[in-house]
Amino acid sequence: MSTPNQPTGLPDGFPDPNARRMSLLPPYLLGRINAYNDELRAKGVDVIDLGMGNPVDPIQAEVLETMRASLDEVPNHRYSQAKGILPLKQAFARHYARHFKVELDPKEEIIATIGSKEAFSHLMLGMLGPGDSCVVPTPAFTIHMYAPQIAGASVIGVYMKEEQPGPQLLADLKYALETVRPRPKLLILNFPHNPTARTVDLGFYEEAVALGKHYGVWVLNDFAYGHSCFDGYQAPSILQVKGAKDIAVETFTMSKPYNMAGWRVGFLAGSRHLVDILARIKGYFDYGIFQCIQLSAVTALDHGDTLIKQQSLLYEKRRDALLEGLKKAGWKKTIKNRGTMFSWQPLPDHPKVKGMNSVDFCFTLARETGVSFTPGGGFGPEGDSHLRMALVAPEARIAEACARIGKFLQA
Ligand SMILES: Cc1ncc(COP(=O)(O)O)c(C=O)c1O
Repeated sequence: MSTPNQPTGLPDGFPDPNARRMSLLPPYLLGRINAYNDELRAKGVDVIDLGMGNPVDPIQAEVLETMRASLDEVPNHRYSQAKGILPLKQAFARHYARHFKVELDPKEEIIATIGSKEAFSHLMLGMLGPGDSCVVPTPAFTIHMYAPQIAGASVIGVYMKEEQPGPQLLADLKYALETVRPRPKLLILNFPHNPTARTVDLGFYEEAVALGKHYGVWVLNDFAYGHSCFDGYQAPSILQVKGAKDIAVETFTMSKPYNMAGWRVGFLAGSRHLVDILARIKGYFDYGIFQCIQLSAVTALDHGDTLIKQQSLLYEKRRDALLEGLKKAGWKKTIKNRGTMFSWQPLPDHPKVKGMNSVDFCFTLARETGVSFTPGGGFGPEGDSHLRMALVAPEARIAEACARIGKFLQA
């Protein structure tokens, strides 16, 4: 019997061109949802797409000016450096010193990458292989589950039971690190968290780094939403923990705080050992980021502090509009988050939703209302009772989405 990953119609006598590792990758749910949204649009439906965390707001004008000016310089069109040019890594070091009071050596402790997903995926390939394992709190951002597996390693998911990750999650992580044999090599964290929008305070990282040191386990924090914080909350960087750089790294991105998702610039910073692994593997795989983009990212890092504040305020207002709208729509239990560009909500307790999982509900909602969310089940079975709602539309449009949901629930 053929599976969705097995190609049909291959030339006679040819082997399946997929490597065996390709069978690890489940069909991409977001692709199915996007295709369904396109079908609806073709029928004239005004789709309100709050699915993907793809920023919609403008970037800074100065960044575009740097891009335009740098395009005229011939050397900028040559291969750049796989590890990123020094001025970019220095700008990143200034950024971390200014925002998080973390001192980083631009040459040894920072590497610029083609987005933070690239940093993460290639680091997994450099760190993990068959026989290795890593621990990941679940539900989890897809690549956190699959990049280690593509590298040949096993993933031990630890279900996050708490709304505010703290003593319970730390105890469960400790249990995994203590009992799994061979001992896991890496603990993967991601706060503020995608998809659950959960956040932690510095004390959490102090405990996590202490656990890592005690059990001899490296720690990575994906800090994509480090600047997307609400209600006066400022997410801590794991590198603020004293001695964290001995065993921990953090990924950071220009995609979310600066709305530069299409530009593909990210960073890995912290432990020089892990930075070196990524630098070595990237030396084989790529020649670095287009230099004009790197120079533009320097401008963003040095002059974008106001923009990143304004951007998080926009997300905060959209979260408020969403929560207010959902309440009006008759969505009784909602969760108020203090970070990310998402809202993570339980399926409504409503007769119309009885017996549905998150995928069924998302497709039903799209069909009946034109409002599109991401099913929590797309982030693992632990997420199946929830939906992820991306705050990527103006408040009025979010209010309209909620009004349509209200009509559907109340009809
Ligand atoms: C937690 C998390 N990490 C990484 C990324 C990817 O970021 P980048 O654009 O830097 O590759 C995303 C994007 O949605 C994300 O949600």
